[in-house]
Amino acid sequence: MYKMYGDKLFFEIPSLSDDQYRRWAELLEHRLGVIVPKERKLFLQSKIWSRMRELGYVDYDEYWKFVNSGIEGNLEWSQLVDRLTVHETSFFRHQPSFDLVAEDLGEKFVSQQKPFRYKVWSVSCATGEEPYSLAMMLHTLCRQAEGDVNYGITATDVSSPAVAIAKQGVYSSDKLINIEASYHSHISKLNDEMFVIKEYIKRRLAFGVFNLLDVNKPSNIKYDVIYCQNVLMYFDRSVRQRILNGLVNYLNTRGLLILGQTEINAWAHQKMTRVDRSRTLAFRLK
Ligand SMILES: C[S@@+](CC[C@H](N)C(=O)[O-])C[C@H]1O[C@@H](n2cnc3c(N)ncnc32)[C@H](O)[C@@H]1O
Repeated sequence: MYKMYGDKLFFEIPSLSDDQYRRWAELLEHRLGVIVPKERKLFLQSKIWSRMRELGYVDYDEYWKFVNSGIEGNLEWSQLVDRLTVHETSFFRHQPSFDLVAEDLGEKFVSQQKPFRYKVWSVSCATGEEPYSLAMMLHTLCRQAEGDVNYGITATDVSSPAVAIAKQGVYSSDKLINIEASYHSHISKLNDEMFVIKEYIKRRLAFGVFNLLDVNKPSNIKYDVIYCQNVLMYFDRSVRQRILNGLVNYLNTRGLLILGQTEINAWAHQKMTRVDRSRTLAFRLK
């Protein structure tokens, strides 16, 4: 594993053989629905290796056995998932989609019997910026409606370490740049480097670990909005369709399903109509 380059000794990560790559890629596809194409073999190799080194493993097959063994293996799997998934996110990442939620709340406020509770599900919340953005906006709007409407947000992700970070609601100050000044009243500065989401906002969120591959299991929970952005792109087409078909069952009457703009082409569902709004990709339950 150590190699000389000139007069220097370097550590070289051992290669995943084609067979080993195939096994790991199949495990990821089977458990997460995530596709790791051959061109990303080096990415897979470096992520698995860095986790193996933390635990003292030097053999991919030994580590494979560990991940696939009983309860300890399941716990280890949740750590590995965190390394293998991309958690890139930001506050108010796609403003036109937030505007659509605000508009939907306004319409439902007029048409629904009051008081009512507006329920939103952020299905791949990563480290929490997306659901807290929704919460800050909804909190402000509900306050303007003077108590006749309330909101609640369910925020889930397959990565338990990401969800643990989200629950804390502590972020570095450079992220403030994406939060407009009128929402700064919903956060407290901890020091020059960090801020925290205020408790009254946090109380409106319920965080949990959820694998989108399980979306077709029976459930009676319904939401007014399902916010599903920047996650479908990691799945292949048939899995995306299956996930979206499953999410439809979680929508309330006239519920909105809001996706990332380029996440799927030509998805259609007999119960859903496309929302005609520029720079967004959204569907409404008929
Ligand atoms: C790029 S982040 C998107 C975060 C946020 N939705 C946004 O748009 O900013 C993708 C997230 O999808 C999650 N993810 C990947 N596979 C998943 C699965 N099978 N079920 C649920 N979440 C998944 C990852 O853990 C990651 O946090």
